[in-house]
Amino acid sequence: MNALTKGDFTELDDPWAIFHAWMAEAERSEPNDPTAMALATADADGLPNVRMVLLKAADERGFVFYTNAESNKGRELAANPQAALVFHWKSLRRQVRARGRVTKVSDAEADAYFASRPRDSRIGAWASQQSRPLESRFALEKAVAFYAARYAIGEVPRPPYWTGFRIDPIAIEFWQDRPFRLHDRVVFTRAPEGWTKTRLYP
Ligand SMILES: Cc1cc2nc3c(=O)[nH]c(=O)nc-3n(C[C@H](O)[C@H](O)[C@H](O)COP(=O)(O)O)c2cc1C
Repeated sequence: MNALTKGDFTELDDPWAIFHAWMAEAERSEPNDPTAMALATADADGLPNVRMVLLKAADERGFVFYTNAESNKGRELAANPQAALVFHWKSLRRQVRARGRVTKVSDAEADAYFASRPRDSRIGAWASQQSRPLESRFALEKAVAFYAARYAIGEVPRPPYWTGFRIDPIAIEFWQDRPFRLHDRVVFTRAPEGWTKTRLYP
């Protein structure tokens, strides 16, 4: 039993150490998409909106995902650059929540990640006007064929509207299932001198 199994994570003082250990375990235990997280934003009326995205990087600077900046989420983040996220690893019976301000990643970072994607995904990024009405499946397939022909030779460049967003957390909360609903909950809140740790009633 390593130091991070079950309740022992509550002894640690670095939320990123817990997060990386839990993610590593999730990558071994979850049947698919261990990096999937629900991402909540708010629309212009303050009405929350939530959808799944894949975490592509996580370090002291925050949690990074990639998307179309002209999608609903992209437009919501442009107007109100704040978000909340939650991971739920069912097999491990764990949850991680975070919230904070959102910034775009640098062009160099977005270029590097885009270049690492399969060619067909890069073509797809050009073909999809994410979150806009689509007349038919055929219209999407035509767009894919168009961009596949346009970029038949050489590299597929990153579309200008396709980028990454980084959520810089002001709080990260860890939840671990324990018997009889007496779960372990620890929230880390960012203070000027570092992280403040608080145990919460379940
Ligand atoms: C498991 C899973 C992972 C997903 N990952 C992403 C992602 O990384 N980026 C993305 O733009 N959409 C992703 N999607 C699709 C989004 O949930 C959503 O449908 C899309 O981004 C449009 O959302 P919006 O209209 O709120 O902008 C994923 C969906 C699922 C179910």
